[in-house]
Amino acid sequence: MTKILVTGGVGFIGSHTVVELMQAGYEPIIIDNLSNSSINVLDGIEKITGKRPFFAQVDCRDKTAIDQVLKQQGPIKAIIHFAASKAVGESVEKPLLYYRNNLVSLLNLLELMQENSIQHLVFSSSCTVYGQPEVLPVTESAPIQPALSPYGNTKQICEEIITDTAYADKNIHAILLRYFNPIGAHPSAEIGELPIGVPQNLIPYVTQTAAGIREQLKVFGNDYNTPDGYCIRDYINVTDLAKAHVVAVQRLTEEKQKQSVEVFNIGTGRGLSVLEIINAFEKVTGQKLNYAVVGRREGDIEQVWADPTFANTELGWKAEKGIEETLLSAWKWQEKLKSKV
Ligand code: WQD
Repeated sequence: MTKILVTGGVGFIGSHTVVELMQAGYEPIIIDNLSNSSINVLDGIEKITGKRPFFAQVDCRDKTAIDQVLKQQGPIKAIIHFAASKAVGESVEKPLLYYRNNLVSLLNLLELMQENSIQHLVFSSSCTVYGQPEVLPVTESAPIQPALSPYGNTKQICEEIITDTAYADKNIHAILLRYFNPIGAHPSAEIGELPIGVPQNLIPYVTQTAAGIREQLKVFGNDYNTPDGYCIRDYINVTDLAKAHVVAVQRLTEEKQKQSVEVFNIGTGRGLSVLEIINAFEKVTGQKLNYAVVGRREGDIEQVWADPTFANTELGWKAEKGIEETLLSAWKWQEKLKSKV
């Protein structure tokens, strides 16, 4: 079977992508330092797929350790690189940790690709590179705005490093996937989001509030220049997002890409406000959510949602799951977690 190295493969998006890779007939080789994930995720992957993928606890800042996996488990056909620090607020407090982790990890992987004749890379990027777009929905040709956080800056710098490397080395081909807001969980409720500590993101905070783990959801502002005053985002089902990675790997390994580096927005194309999310969650789960509107969160942009046309037409990928099904999957996962404690 074709082996794909998946860094951060027991993380939220990584684990869902591993499942989709296996179900598409690939053999994922997972490396993860477990700094923001649990090895128990492998049990969930095995329950869904019937197989336990290879796993090594490796930190991507350790080039030698990655190389040992490549030598033992090779030949590797492509790499999907998820492993990175990704908390916007934390990146403001600890910029050096973010620059070292997110940039050194990528540099290691690109050098190892050259040293091991691995030609294909799928990179986990983010709509955060657009900042607050002037025009909505946002397309891949929208200007990249100055980053609002070290985290966002690392994503921009990583995109530039990959682009420059692929320009210089014709044997390096990459697809950059700019995610919008990944949410939800696998329909089996065997894997899902596992935020460590107090969730920073909306949906895990919503489900933990509904589960009684959190007292009350604080909604960060309803005085924005949007139809209902609440921030708008493009919330994409994590399984839909995972499938985009499989399609990207297929495009690269079948050499169908048209440029050495291609960029795709991976979103639904539909913007929803925080209030619309809350109302949809209450509707599909029957749970009444205890929330209060408070002041704005520093660094939040007002509204962003994708124009996914390029991914739909060129990549041949389209988001399929609606917001209600997705929120219900998040709730089912939360209930499963609660039953485990
Ligand atoms: C969504 C909306 C909040 C929590 C971040 C990163 C982005 C990507 C996804 C990594 C906003 C509101 C949230 C809460 C709230 N991460 N909110 N109360 O900020 O759009 O994106 O996560 O790639 O790079 O920036 O996601 O879920 O934090 O917030 O009102 O307790 O929910 O103000 O409007 P965000 P989020």
